[in-house]
Amino acid sequence: MSFVPYDRPVRAAFIGLGRIYDLNVRAYAGNPDVEVVALVDPSEERRAQRQADWPGARTFASAAELAASGLEVDVAEVLLPIVLHADGVQEMLGFGWHVNLQKPMCNDLCEARRMLDAARANARVLRVMDNYLFYQPLHKLKAAAESGEIGEVVGYHLKMVGTGNGGWDVPWSSFEWQMDQMRRGRGIMVFDDGWHKLTTAIWLFGPVREVRAWIGNTAVGPGVDLDAPATIVWEHDNGVRGVWDITIAMDMYLRSDYYTNDERWEITGSRGYARVNRCTGRGIQQPSLEIYADGEMRGYHALDDDWASSFRDSGRHWLRWLHTGDGPLLWSGDEAVDVLRFALAAYASSASGGTGVNPAQVT
Ligand SMILES: NC(=O)c1ccc[n+]([C@@H]2O[C@H](COP(=O)([O-])OP(=O)(O)OC[C@H]3O[C@@H](n4cnc5c(N)ncnc54)[C@H](O)[C@@H]3O)[C@@H](O)[C@H]2O)c1
Repeated sequence: MSFVPYDRPVRAAFIGLGRIYDLNVRAYAGNPDVEVVALVDPSEERRAQRQADWPGARTFASAAELAASGLEVDVAEVLLPIVLHADGVQEMLGFGWHVNLQKPMCNDLCEARRMLDAARANARVLRVMDNYLFYQPLHKLKAAAESGEIGEVVGYHLKMVGTGNGGWDVPWSSFEWQMDQMRRGRGIMVFDDGWHKLTTAIWLFGPVREVRAWIGNTAVGPGVDLDAPATIVWEHDNGVRGVWDITIAMDMYLRSDYYTNDERWEITGSRGYARVNRCTGRGIQQPSLEIYADGEMRGYHALDDDWASSFRDSGRHWLRWLHTGDGPLLWSGDEAVDVLRFALAAYASSASGGTGVNPAQVT
């Protein structure tokens, strides 16, 4: 489609004003590329709370109410529970709004198809944001792999531990729809948070040709299950193999300003390795990136490794992109479908006892 860049601030509406609004909003604060004109949420309490950030914005209980009001909107920042993504995005593209959607894109390929078709039919842009693609230590990790300083890439390892103590408050209402997702087979560890890990793998090493998975289950309370322990391995088209282990440590305290998620990314090269030690939480109190090669370890002590900065920079990238139309969206709707296929291949593999599944062939 041909996109005409804006030569004035874009008029934006936030759709969904829950927990993650607190971080997405950082891209909008003080940004001359955008004017926030509307705030949408069925919760009156949320609308009143967020109105304090944008006293000039009008508030609505639904996107349909906003569209019917006659208020002009160019772009929607969509922060809805996942199960509402497909219908919500289709509706908003139909209103003629460009959409910046929180990950995960949606639960299945039919929903993804509906969203992509709606973007095409209305000649609007659908971006599926992934803030991890803007986390500075991960950028340096990619650069280290591509520069040759650790030699040729020979392996890739991801670790993720969800802990039960620490972090910011998450309202029970935010967990409730995640538990519904779990019952649909789209759990919080592999699918919701895991989406980031799958995205970063594709971003680092390109398309994936085979996935093998063993996805477990842990009951952490009455009717509350989590999709761990889980182990997922895969091979990229370029031959690099990845392995990702996911565990739950319910009694562990993790210092974090956000979610209690202890994460690491490690690329092994033929001459050394590069490792990102943390992201969302503050587990390992060493430099967020360390690179070892030829008997020497280099620690990066001055990176912007506050997880929230990745939301700020992802949103700023989008709001700038709308003024230029240049460069990658990080991520486009089509690229997000590749991530969805990666996840669906893991589920298919796990269901069949860990056999290899090609993401291109999942239906
Ligand atoms: N990038 C990340 O690291 C990250 C982290 C957390 C959440 N997320 C994603 O962000 C999205 C929102 O998650 P959250 O944790 O903020 O959820 P949340 O439950 O805290 O917030 C969702 C908000 O949407 C509102 N809402 C429900 N129906 C609506 C409708 N029809 N129209 C408008 N608003 C409606 C709810 O009242 C609520 O305020 C999800 O897609 C989630 O996966 C991403």
